[in-house]
Amino acid sequence: MNFKKRMNLFMGMWLLTGAVFAQNVCLSTPNTLMVLAAPEGGKLEYVYYGNKLSETNLQNLETVQTKHEAYPEYGMNCPTETALAVKHADGNMTLQLEVMKVTTTEEADAVKAVITLKDKVYPFFVNVCYKAWQDADIIETWTEISHQEKKPVVLNQFASAYLPIRRGDVWLSHLYGTWANEGRLSQEPLTPGMKIIKNKDGVRNSHTAHAEVMFSLDGRPQENAGNVIGAALCYSGNYKLRIETHDDEYHHFFAGINEENSTYSLKKDEVFRTPELALTYSREGLSGSSRNFHRWARLHKLAHGTTLRKILLNSWEGVYFDINQEGMDQMMADIASMGGELFVMDDGWFGDKYPRKTDNSSLGDWVVDQNKLPNGIEGLLSDAKKHGIKFGIWIEPEMANTTSELYERHPEWVIKAPERDLVLGRGGTQVVLDLANPAVQDFIFDIVDKLMTSYPEIDYIKWDANMSIMNHGSQYLTSDNQSHLYIEFHRGFEKVCQRIRAKYPDLTIQACASGGGRANYGLLPYFDEFWVSDNTDALQRVYMQWGTSYFFPAVAMASHISAAPNHQTFRTIPLKYRIDVAMSGRLGMEIQPKNMTDGEKALCKNAIAEYKTIRPIVQQGDIYRLLSPYDKQGAASLMYVAPEKDKAVFYWWKTEHFCNQHLPRIKMAGLCPNKQYKVHELNRIDNRPLNFENKSFSGAYLMANGLEIPYNHQVDYHKQNDYSSRVLYLEEVK
Ligand code: GLA
Repeated sequence: MNFKKRMNLFMGMWLLTGAVFAQNVCLSTPNTLMVLAAPEGGKLEYVYYGNKLSETNLQNLETVQTKHEAYPEYGMNCPTETALAVKHADGNMTLQLEVMKVTTTEEADAVKAVITLKDKVYPFFVNVCYKAWQDADIIETWTEISHQEKKPVVLNQFASAYLPIRRGDVWLSHLYGTWANEGRLSQEPLTPGMKIIKNKDGVRNSHTAHAEVMFSLDGRPQENAGNVIGAALCYSGNYKLRIETHDDEYHHFFAGINEENSTYSLKKDEVFRTPELALTYSREGLSGSSRNFHRWARLHKLAHGTTLRKILLNSWEGVYFDINQEGMDQMMADIASMGGELFVMDDGWFGDKYPRKTDNSSLGDWVVDQNKLPNGIEGLLSDAKKHGIKFGIWIEPEMANTTSELYERHPEWVIKAPERDLVLGRGGTQVVLDLANPAVQDFIFDIVDKLMTSYPEIDYIKWDANMSIMNHGSQYLTSDNQSHLYIEFHRGFEKVCQRIRAKYPDLTIQACASGGGRANYGLLPYFDEFWVSDNTDALQRVYMQWGTSYFFPAVAMASHISAAPNHQTFRTIPLKYRIDVAMSGRLGMEIQPKNMTDGEKALCKNAIAEYKTIRPIVQQGDIYRLLSPYDKQGAASLMYVAPEKDKAVFYWWKTEHFCNQHLPRIKMAGLCPNKQYKVHELNRIDNRPLNFENKSFSGAYLMANGLEIPYNHQVDYHKQNDYSSRVLYLEEVK
């Protein structure tokens, strides 16, 4: 046990046994602290959540803090909002939970506290669990609900967690959007009434609203100042976040599975585990809260979070369904010649009886279309080898088309309500497989298993999911358990993911779901990254990636250079700007290189080489958002700083263009004031270097003043345009 951990645990035990704080639970992370009162036979209550405190402040805490029940239950104080509401086997609708015991254990890099609550009368139990990470400022909390009543107990409401937030000028930051416009940032003050953020898609849960929020506690949100509580629900399915601003002094925040149409019948001795809610607290504003999430994600939550990602070319926007052996070979040759490391063949490669020519057939028939690819996947793998790059492949395993051999064999595997017609999705024929069914789970595991056992050199899988659960009906679940459909679908999905990861721990897997439908912390343990959006327009990406960066690190945000005019917005954006935006995430390309000029290829080749230098800073560094595109000041800017603060990358993108419009000068952040940094522009297209090229400035200067960025590029007259962007690399002069 390391010293820090021993101290944190010691503090917890001291409080558990201490005279003043008898039966308090005290959980700390490097910079934060959560205190709960847990008197045996009494109520479990929150006392404090915030920054770490000195011992004196800790001792006097209970005299100044208002306590709130930590997991409010329904029935004996009906008017209040609750986390848990049940119907006992005998029909009683009430709960009265008391603390039975507290168990504190150590896990790798974390301290875990489980507070067992029991109903005063009924054999009904709730474990309220907290896991305080010792190397990241995150406390996860969830519950385990069980009982020993004679018949099933019905769970009507089963939130993961509750947190009281002291009223003041508290502002909520959260993400919303839609297909091709995901991750939009919304910021609003919390006002009286109920704010609900929820999802009912069934399959994908982040196209529209997101299951993550931040609360700025001291007024209008600031990026690099102010106290912020962040919360992320780690769940891939339907969720509901509720914030009730009540007539008391608090905003009451609840987060968990969306219970709508999901009443759960809990059998005797079965344990219902709610998804974790990850909480963070930062005194360094929204960006500080993001850095906490990112660090935790890289260290503990995201698959291979500390591994640098390969630079790839994806075939989708380049050729769509028009896959063939020669075309794939040409794309592989092109990305290899530009310095890329991986080629991903997207949709359109499969189907035997029903070849996948467009989106109306073949999902489920995961065999190579021999007409398109006579040499099969072996042929593609040997092409990749020839070009010295890796190979990846697209699948959409949770789905079928009614025009498929799979559907012909197993119509009982699809989601369908009895007595009703199918509801069809993409292409007019898509259906969702019933992951509640173990046979379907086996089938989905086998798709990956067959690919990987037959072709172990496959390096990357793009796992797509392009349909919602439209119709409520499982042909597998019994008639009295139909309300378990959404929950069982995601349990089934997670089981499959676990099996895949147990057998293929090194595989890179992207979560795609019609773009950004699966950016959530429930899935990230099994996935290396997610596709931020089907919209690859660089200007709109500035907004979407800005929002997404609130909760997810750049290493997980797939960001591709695509064609102009853009295929979604039809906007023509210069390649330099497209590159500079894509380079702020996990860089890739999604374009037909055959259609690029030699000059464009050279620019990309140079950018890929430059990205390799800054990749560790972007993918593993600390984010500081500087100027928000949502502030509509004509530009947006952010930077990543290496943990040692010896290197940084600064991004600046113009978002509007008007003559003689003044743009703000951007102050940098996160640097070491005393270090000297030499500035070097990457991806330069200007005829002359910038005035400050190769000049050194102290971190203090850069953070107080920033640099004056020219509004336009100094290029030949015929190359001038209305876009402008800069990527500056800062390196410490030793
Ligand atoms: C979805 C994905 C795209 C692409 C297509 C293929 O829309 O988001 O990136 O893979 O499917 O059909």
